[in-house]
Amino acid sequence: MKIALFTIFTCVVLIAVMVAVAYVCNRLNIGTRTTAQQAPLPLTPQDWEVYLAYLQALMECVANNHNTCGLCRPGDLPQHMAPGLSGIIRKGGTMLYTARCKEMMTEEGLQKAADTCKYLGIDGLICCGGDGTFRGAQALSRKGVPCIGVPGTIDNDIVCTDYTIGFDTACNTAIECIDKLRDTMQSHERCSVVEVMGRRAGHLALHVGCAVGATASCLPERKLNFDTDIVEKMRVGRIKGRNHHIIIVAEGYGSAQEVADHIHEATGIDTRVTILGHIQRGGSPSAQDRVMATRMGYAAVRALMEGKTNRVVVFDNNQVTDLDIEEGLSRDKDLNQCLFEAQQTVAI
Ligand code: F6P
Repeated sequence: MKIALFTIFTCVVLIAVMVAVAYVCNRLNIGTRTTAQQAPLPLTPQDWEVYLAYLQALMECVANNHNTCGLCRPGDLPQHMAPGLSGIIRKGGTMLYTARCKEMMTEEGLQKAADTCKYLGIDGLICCGGDGTFRGAQALSRKGVPCIGVPGTIDNDIVCTDYTIGFDTACNTAIECIDKLRDTMQSHERCSVVEVMGRRAGHLALHVGCAVGATASCLPERKLNFDTDIVEKMRVGRIKGRNHHIIIVAEGYGSAQEVADHIHEATGIDTRVTILGHIQRGGSPSAQDRVMATRMGYAAVRALMEGKTNRVVVFDNNQVTDLDIEEGLSRDKDLNQCLFEAQQTVAI
């Protein structure tokens, strides 16, 4: 059986999925597929490091008698042996050279991908990403290419799963940065307004806000009353001896600068804005992400081997399981209300 890894979106720990997949597929033929292997050259030194690690992964497959291939550049296949895969689990980024691919959103692009799978004898695809990736997987399944989705995004906004690979690493990165910011805010008695990623969802902002003891987290899913939920909390905090404040703003909420200006006008407190940006999408994966990626990658390969297609691996009720993509995409997901209430109430 020939299985390929495929992704439209980037995510922190695809590599861990890849490792899991490669190990599980011990005697299978493994292919790797990414929409972004056409990454612009020349590559940066860091890109090269990642690319070499990617090649090592392929070589490991060769070493274990796996038949490897890349869909986009089959000519690049490594011809010699290399060290094992174990080292790459600690790497961030996407050695698959992933990126959003507009072509995959067209009928022609999908047909091209399906034809390429056929041409290369790929029997199944593991599609890591979010809703867009799963819709692509669904469309490819309809074209006869067995596909299993694995949820991967730092936003944790995929409706059918409680967890998406990359989320924990992004949280930890943001927390580490904010802990550092806090030192200056404390020394100068300032307020730090920090924008975190998450696209249209506030899961990342809520978790980060809770973990850093933010005075408030501004989330797209919940309307805050600026006077009572922010200004009044800052005033009471000040009376109780709190000399600095951290306010988290989800990127989907609105402008962090506007929030900061507003706070400054209302309180007179010296305020600074930090936008963490893409730093949240890189770095060595956390233990939780490595373990979840391994579990989900394993489940995805098992599903393909059982002849399943058009399924997505999910983390539901503390279990890794799989469900129909259509059903998965039609579910609802809201913020964790208990966590939201706790965060709004407790500020350290
Ligand atoms: O979906 C992951 C994510 O990092 C979002 O949190 C963010 O809005 C977006 O991707 C950023 O995308 P880009 O790298 O294209 O700016």
